[in-house]
Amino acid sequence: MDLGLKGRACVVTGASRGIGAETARLLCAEGADVLLVARDEERLNEAATAARQAGEGSGQVEILSLDVTDEDAGECMLATAIARFGQLDVLVNNAGAAQWRQIDDVPDRDWYVQYELNVMAPMRAMRAAAPTMAEAGWGRIVNVCSTAGKRPSAAMPEYSVAKAAELSLSRLFADRYAKSGVLVNAICPGPVKSEMWMEPGGLLDQAQEMTEAGSREEALAEAGSKRPIGRLAEVGEIAGAIVFLCSERASYVAGAAWSVDGGTVQVII
Ligand SMILES: NC(=O)c1ccc[n+]([C@@H]2O[C@H](COP(=O)([O-])OP(=O)(O)OC[C@H]3O[C@@H](n4cnc5c(N)ncnc54)[C@H](OP(=O)(O)O)[C@@H]3O)[C@@H](O)[C@H]2O)c1
Repeated sequence: MDLGLKGRACVVTGASRGIGAETARLLCAEGADVLLVARDEERLNEAATAARQAGEGSGQVEILSLDVTDEDAGECMLATAIARFGQLDVLVNNAGAAQWRQIDDVPDRDWYVQYELNVMAPMRAMRAAAPTMAEAGWGRIVNVCSTAGKRPSAAMPEYSVAKAAELSLSRLFADRYAKSGVLVNAICPGPVKSEMWMEPGGLLDQAQEMTEAGSREEALAEAGSKRPIGRLAEVGEIAGAIVFLCSERASYVAGAAWSVDGGTVQVII
């Protein structure tokens, strides 16, 4: 299936690793131009190299090192995409961070940190990008939210609330821009074996500590067993759905919040 992404100019945030890096790689493999955005320049360069290899020279790959919560980050990403590619067609708001914690233990500041990362940053990015896409008459925006935004996770309180707000934000932009050809959608992954889970000190190690599982493998199996599908997702299983929503083929999908969670959130609407 031709996804119609060849020559499309894309920005992916949180692209230095995990779901974002894989999304950038798959977009490049489709012949798109991609601007990879995150804070860590070294990791961005590694992700850009993998994306270039996947693209086999068909599209351009650029990096931009910034913190997406900076007030001017949205404008900066738009300006960089236009300077490098001449346009901006696709925006993937993917940057994120999480840790396990009980609601009584979350300091005020951390509620604001998650709100900045999951609401203000995507809002500013969409506010910058969507009018340009609307002027061109074509655009795709994908907001990477979470199952925790649909059904709050007791052990991720501030993250869950911010992701729920991001779903609402995504729907508002979808309604505002659908008639202009700019289609805005959300993806709600369940647990994914990205660095967020697998890096030392990440969610898996924290889960092992919380559950007193005997090993990482045991903790991983236990986390997987809570899902109808019986395991965590691979990053490519999330990135594939994101790339589809970025594509020409998703031409009648707007305002959706697609679960890609192995059946975790048991709702049928
Ligand atoms: N993994 C899961 O189980 C899971 C489940 C549901 C939803 N999600 C969501 O999926 C998205 C991607 O998660 P992931 O699992 O791929 O996480 P990850 O492996 O930890 O990668 C997160 C990415 O976001 C970037 N980032 C974080 N804060 C940033 C900031 N302030 N400014 C710019 N970039 C920032 C990181 O790069 P730098 O550190 O270099 O900036 C990194 O590239 C997130 O929104 C996450 O909430 C993940």
